Amino acid sequence: MSNNIKIIGISGSLRKDSYNSALLRAAQEVMPAGISFEIADISAIPLYNGDTEAAHFPEAVIKLREQIRGANGLLIATPEYNYSMSGVIKNTIDWLSRPSNDPVLSGKPLAIMGASMGMMGTARAQYHLRQSAVFLNMHLLNKPELFVNAAQTKFDANLTLTDAPTREVLSKLLESFQKWIAQLEGRKA
Ligand SMILES: Cc1cc2nc3c(=O)[nH]c(=O)nc-3n(C[C@H](O)[C@H](O)[C@H](O)COP(=O)(O)O)c2cc1C
Repeated sequence: MSNNIKIIGISGSLRKDSYNSALLRAAQEVMPAGISFEIADISAIPLYNGDTEAAHFPEAVIKLREQIRGANGLLIATPEYNYSMSGVIKNTIDWLSRPSNDPVLSGKPLAIMGASMGMMGTARAQYHLRQSAVFLNMHLLNKPELFVNAAQTKFDANLTLTDAPTREVLSKLLESFQKWIAQLEGRKA
């Protein structure tokens, strides 16, 4: 298996007890050997404003951009808000798409997943995120998809992912992502 792959995780929810942040922590628990994983803190990223961009890039955006530049792939856990991705995640990728002459997301491998309390498990949010990722020229992992529905039944009171089938799909997603990155980088998978 390939060694020394670095993945940055981003949660599209800022709340303390977020299921999506918990899903990223579960990913850390089942991460395959050979991957180092870091969850980025995006809480200081302001709302995108072209005037702010023209004046100076916010420190939080510069920091995240450099974290992603130094990583082999990006893992996003997005909530579903009103049948789409959360504004937090959309705002973050909007910032990361700037400046257009330094496209840090272009060509970057991406895996997505999500948890919601509804029955669709963020499917609609993930397909919107996939659509944006196509425009951003990211290299999306197609399968397996991970839609954690009825999240309140799959995490315990400590926000540990206790649902065995979900943990298994999460493991498979991460193994597939490792192979996908290796394939894209021409490494031996
Ligand atoms: C503004 C808002 C809109 C929501 N819209 C949806 C939705 O369209 N589909 C869905 O399954 N859940 C929806 N939910 C419920 C979220 O899935 C639930 O709050 C989830 O826990 C959010 O993710 P988090 O735990 O990572 O914060 C919505 C919640 C909020 C606050």
